[in-house]
Amino acid sequence: MKYGFLGSGNMASAIINGMIKNGFCKGYDILVFNRTAEKAEKLSKQCGVKVCSSQKELIENSDVFVISVKPNVLDEIASSIKTDLGDRKPLIISIAVGKTLDFLKDNLGNKAIARVMPNINAKVLASESGYCANENCTPEQKKIVYDIFSAIGSAIEIPEKFFGIFGVIAGSSPAFAYIYVNALAKAAVKAGMPKAQALEIAANTVLGSAKMVLESNEHPCSLADMVCSPGGTTIEGVCTLDELGFENTVIKAFDAVLEKDKKISGK
Ligand SMILES: NC(=O)c1ccc[n+]([C@@H]2O[C@H](COP(=O)([O-])OP(=O)(O)OC[C@H]3O[C@@H](n4cnc5c(N)ncnc54)[C@H](OP(=O)(O)O)[C@@H]3O)[C@@H](O)[C@H]2O)c1
Repeated sequence: MKYGFLGSGNMASAIINGMIKNGFCKGYDILVFNRTAEKAEKLSKQCGVKVCSSQKELIENSDVFVISVKPNVLDEIASSIKTDLGDRKPLIISIAVGKTLDFLKDNLGNKAIARVMPNINAKVLASESGYCANENCTPEQKKIVYDIFSAIGSAIEIPEKFFGIFGVIAGSSPAFAYIYVNALAKAAVKAGMPKAQALEIAANTVLGSAKMVLESNEHPCSLADMVCSPGGTTIEGVCTLDELGFENTVIKAFDAVLEKDKKISGK
């Protein structure tokens, strides 16, 4: 099986590194074509992927064809991709934000197509990726999508109508989480701890807390209750967060991202 990547930028490099590091495939199973050839050559030197000299060569030799160029670039080159695909029917995976399955089918032809949204944490193999696939995808092809994106973290199939919501809780929320980690560390600095140490402690604690939510089968509120001893110290902090509208602020931030997304995509 050969996996071809059109565009070898930030996200494609992260996915490719994950696929190889996790033993999903070897470097020589992966083909890349990038507008700036030097970038693809650099990736090839790092992990042994094969560099193609044209989009056509890439498509002709790929069983799985991953579109990893920017959405505006896809608008410009969709018709040439359609021409290069011809009668070939590789599994097409697009990670271009905002490009729907209908758009992809209308512009690339009636093929097996999956749409995936990875997030920035792919760089450390911890992306939460959402995917959906059209009616032409077989269960085996959906499994390929699941396996590729599991190699860079976790993958979850979601109905396409939830992609906007997914974009906020998985795509944008890493920014919220980074800011929360920094705020914790900033408070620790204010109390006298060095910043680097405070950041490491705050980040590891958020990581562990997320693991607890995923693995303990306890509701996050029950977990918070476990930390709050009656009349103790933690409940003081939790009440202060309530008083200052922490939860409501997060919900409002979520709404703001979704609202902007709807405005941009004209929904
Ligand atoms: N970054 C994220 O956090 C994130 C999250 C979810 C989804 N995505 C999606 O992932 C896709 C890639 O994003 P990115 O952040 O990886 O962007 P990026 O780093 O800019 O990578 C895009 C690559 O596409 C190449 N390219 C442009 N036109 C091309 C063409 N005609 N043929 C071949 N290659 C071409 C660019 O080459 P040059 O070297 O010439 O610039 C660049 O290396 C986007 O559609 C984005 O919506 C990104």
